[in-house]
Amino acid sequence: MLLLGIETSCDETSVAVVRDGQSVLSNVVASQVDLHAQWGGVVPEAAARQHVERINPLIQQALDEGGIGFDQVEGIAVTNRPGLVGALVVGLAAAKALAFALNVPLVGVNHLEGHLYSPFLDMNAPPVFPHVCLIVSGGHTELVLAKGHGDYELLGQTLDDAAGEAFDKSARLMGLGYPGGPAVDKQAKAGNSQAVRLPRAWLDGSLNFSFSGLKTAVRRYVESQSEDYSIPDLCASLQAAIIDVLATKTLQAVEQAGVNLFTVVGGVAANSALQARMKAEAAGKRIQTLIPPPKYCTDNAAMIACAGYYRLLKGEQDHWDLDAYANAPLG
Ligand code: KG4
Ligand code: ZN
Repeated sequence: MLLLGIETSCDETSVAVVRDGQSVLSNVVASQVDLHAQWGGVVPEAAARQHVERINPLIQQALDEGGIGFDQVEGIAVTNRPGLVGALVVGLAAAKALAFALNVPLVGVNHLEGHLYSPFLDMNAPPVFPHVCLIVSGGHTELVLAKGHGDYELLGQTLDDAAGEAFDKSARLMGLGYPGGPAVDKQAKAGNSQAVRLPRAWLDGSLNFSFSGLKTAVRRYVESQSEDYSIPDLCASLQAAIIDVLATKTLQAVEQAGVNLFTVVGGVAANSALQARMKAEAAGKRIQTLIPPPKYCTDNAAMIACAGYYRLLKGEQDHWDLDAYANAPLG
């Protein structure tokens, strides 16, 4: 089954063509990072306008790069939740129009469920269940027990900032621009992770997270220093503080759930030190781990088509009244 995936939940316009929920024939992404960098964060109104300008050419480009025509599309999967509503409705309107014109099924996908499927793209094998999934992005930090297609249990989540926000807000304090995660990742490579003492919120006995104290500690440190503190050292220390908590809690979740596979997904999963730590933890415990390549960590439509495929296979389908929602839990 050839599905067209459409993703416009935040600041990336993306369209993909995916066969049978696995083989990615095309996955085009138009990032708005340069636009929002001038404001230091995503401006919802500007994001929505840019999606409007880009969505139609991107649909054509995804079909061209996938080597297919409109007449070969057998279904449309579109992110309809959670996200910026003004941004989501752009993709949703395009998806509905196409599904109606081509007379193919339409399926709305939870953006987080898309991320959950992202490690299984291009794997030539179906997704494996059960597994524990750590979702770490700009807006989310969640530990989920994925028991089967569409069967998810939330094990823990952030009580305040998401891991990506901890990267982005701290990077802003250091003057590293937006988005901060990739910049911190790069700077940290030249820094000493023991140089600055930063707190870890363990929240003992729970699989929840809290990163707001870390952000405050970074602000206090920056304010207490003269201009010449070491940015690489602070980045390495910040990154280590975030990774320690993410890795420890993910391994706790794996143990509690009694599974032998965990995945790490979302934009922050592109972090090189987080990937290295997770792979080392898994190897030490003889547990399998899957982390998608960077192009499938950050927002993309291929993962939406993959999640949508399994919903369509189960006979689920949405209708013309499908709406967009700012918040929507997974599971
Ligand atoms: O999944 P995503 O593209 O969008 C959301 O759904 O939020 O994630 C974006 C987040 C941003 O906070 C960005 O700073 C972070 O992912 N990020 C990284 C790296 N690349 C992207 N964080 C740490 N290290 C990276 N290499
Ligand atoms: Zn995302």
